[in-house]
Amino acid sequence: MWLLLPILLYSVVFLTVRHIYSHWRRRGFPSEKAGITWSFLQKAYRREFRHVEAICEAYQLGRDRLLGIYCFFRPVLLVRNVELAQTILQQSNGHFNELKWDYVKGYRRFNLLEKLAPMFGAKRLSEMFGQVQKVGDHLINHLMEQEQVKGNHLEVDLQQILGVYSINIIGNLIYGVDINNFEQKDHILTSYLSYKQASIQSFTLGRLPQKSSFTYRLRDLIKQNVELREDHGLIRKDILQLLVRFRNGNEVSGDKWQLETNNDPEKLLSIKRLAKVAEDLLKVSLDAVSSTITFTLFEILQEPLIVEKLQAEIKELSNENGQLKFDELDGLKYMEMCLKETVRKYPPLPIIERICRKSYSLPNSKFTIDEGKTLMVPLLAIHRDEKYFSEPMKYKPLRFLQSGSDVGQCKDKTKSNGFIGFGIGGAQCVGQNFAKLVIKVALIKLLQNFHMELDLNIIATLEVSHQPAPFIKTKDGLKVKLKRREIKPKFYG
Ligand code: HEM
Repeated sequence: MWLLLPILLYSVVFLTVRHIYSHWRRRGFPSEKAGITWSFLQKAYRREFRHVEAICEAYQLGRDRLLGIYCFFRPVLLVRNVELAQTILQQSNGHFNELKWDYVKGYRRFNLLEKLAPMFGAKRLSEMFGQVQKVGDHLINHLMEQEQVKGNHLEVDLQQILGVYSINIIGNLIYGVDINNFEQKDHILTSYLSYKQASIQSFTLGRLPQKSSFTYRLRDLIKQNVELREDHGLIRKDILQLLVRFRNGNEVSGDKWQLETNNDPEKLLSIKRLAKVAEDLLKVSLDAVSSTITFTLFEILQEPLIVEKLQAEIKELSNENGQLKFDELDGLKYMEMCLKETVRKYPPLPIIERICRKSYSLPNSKFTIDEGKTLMVPLLAIHRDEKYFSEPMKYKPLRFLQSGSDVGQCKDKTKSNGFIGFGIGGAQCVGQNFAKLVIKVALIKLLQNFHMELDLNIIATLEVSHQPAPFIKTKDGLKVKLKRREIKPKFYG
């Protein structure tokens, strides 16, 4: 009798695990041979298991457009073809609902992300440009001060410094506070930078931890700033101001910033929910912005010709004081291609994930994905696939040259429509214009003010890491030597 019990228990566990790991085979999908091995358990226990790398490896297996894999006990369908991924992301209306942004208030039900998207429209961003420039100046002033102390031997970890730049952007624009974390080192947002969100589950955006130990303190910060605007009439041209307008039933699009009185006493967005939106924006933007600037610098500093081209483009568009207007940023075509090439080679979000809400027949195939199952589009693996991008490990901004553009000649035969770095379809990144703006401002200011030189050892040894998952970083920072550069006035003849 006592012997039977463990045998029974073992059999139940064994059959359950076998049932889970045969999901894709039973449904007729091409699938990887899976099971829980001892070495996998050891790695998971030591937190050495690398989800992003494992998913990229699975992408390399076989030739099928779809592959059933398992993330722990979760059956996941991997899309291994970019055209199929684009069709699914664009045309699967209603089958893969992003419930996270669904919001119900009284009789109203809406998708919050859709409503808030106009916050990142060109008109709004143009009026936030002054704030962004100010944060960019904090970055340059900080480096200049360091240079004064250390003279010509200034060597800094730009990855760490750009992390502070990004949190300053978020503090000033999303949390609506006048903050410079290069100086105020005890601010809650500075502490957030050193906080690691590592979690065994958190390997895609959809699975980022819902709450952190910072949630309540960040909520207090939001509460104070919302009160300043609602009760004391403070108007500041930032994202928080637009969130507060939305909370008070005012339009987010348009050009008004002040709060307009509304007969409805009930707020559309509670402080708790508004703080959650702000924290979600913080989580998705912090590493994405700093890693894109860091990897752009890592790549361009190895190619003096790219740096020269960028500096010439900036000089061409700026006025005699080296200033660029918001509208002129669109003219930085070569810089735009560099950013796209960085996001291609180092996508800050390496995997797009969707949960199926209503069973879905996959286009041009005999397969159906069931409700509750996960679908993944491995951006990183697709962007580094020779099928879609020739010489994928080479940094070639001109592969994105549009015909008719006047920035040099493109000899690359790349199918540049394989690029899905900001997602595609209805759920694509709402913050991409904001991201490009703050990344460009940092790059312009750094390239205008400094000669930058990479530590030669880094070039061969730079290790890319996805810890904490999913975002991309360099494992040991980015050491760069800086020397001040005079901005030469443009010659107007
Ligand atoms: C270079 C920088 C960035 C890249 C490459 C990037 C890329 C992406 C990608 C691939 C997605 C997923 C799209 C999908 O699920 O189909 C996404 C979602 C999103 N992004 Fe970005 N992003 C960047 C910066 C930003 C910034 C600065 C913000 C806002 C301030 C932002 C806000 C969002 C939001 C709100 C979502 C939706 C997240 C969700 O569904 O939970 N992103 N982004």
